Amino acid sequence: MVGLENKNIWIIANWKSNKTIKEALEWIELVGPRLPKNNNLKVVVCPPFTDVEEVKKAVMVGNYPLIVGVQDLSPFEVGPYTGEESAAILKDFVDFAIIGHSERRHNFFETDEMVKEKVEMARKNSITPLVCIEGVDVPIPEGVDLVAYEPIFAIGTGEADTPQSAGKIATLIKQKTGQDTQVLYGGSVTAENASSFLESKILDGLLVGKASLDPGEFVQIVEAVSGGD
Ligand code: PGA
Repeated sequence: MVGLENKNIWIIANWKSNKTIKEALEWIELVGPRLPKNNNLKVVVCPPFTDVEEVKKAVMVGNYPLIVGVQDLSPFEVGPYTGEESAAILKDFVDFAIIGHSERRHNFFETDEMVKEKVEMARKNSITPLVCIEGVDVPIPEGVDLVAYEPIFAIGTGEADTPQSAGKIATLIKQKTGQDTQVLYGGSVTAENASSFLESKILDGLLVGKASLDPGEFVQIVEAVSGGD
């Protein structure tokens, strides 16, 4: 157990392209009531677009300490952009957006320039952007104070980076961008290894993919990090 001190700790569930509305609501009903109410603990769920509205309603009805986010958003304003989800529309349901995930950069050819445009759209619509980077050389757009270091070798492989290495990269990112930047680690985080990443107090949270799909394991991750505070 790590325990919360006077700084924010972020635990982000990135469901990727998983869960029907029914499955999403089951997860919310299991996880929501078990989340500790602590202002320093920011627990975020990022479902697929189709689930977002229902998830938001369930969170509000249950009054759960859970922030709802998306896994991507459009670099454009509203308008003739078939298939895109604009921040101006999403803002009715979400307060948070993952931007520039490596799966988007690699499978959908997302460039640093597009990441920058998406960040601008998010900020313009009061959505907090979390920018994902594979290493310190990837540019971080102006005004971003939440970054996730996600090394490619660790994503979905079961081979997480070490807490020492992740801490070193986080320190470099903070030196590059300013000490106010909060840096999360992502890549094969599980209930077993979650607390090890936060022990040194350098990292500010975790971005969890596969292990976030299981409500029981996700709650264990939150408990390991918050120390039940
Ligand atoms: P993983 O994914 O936890 O399944 O490795 C993390 C991510 O891609 O955000």
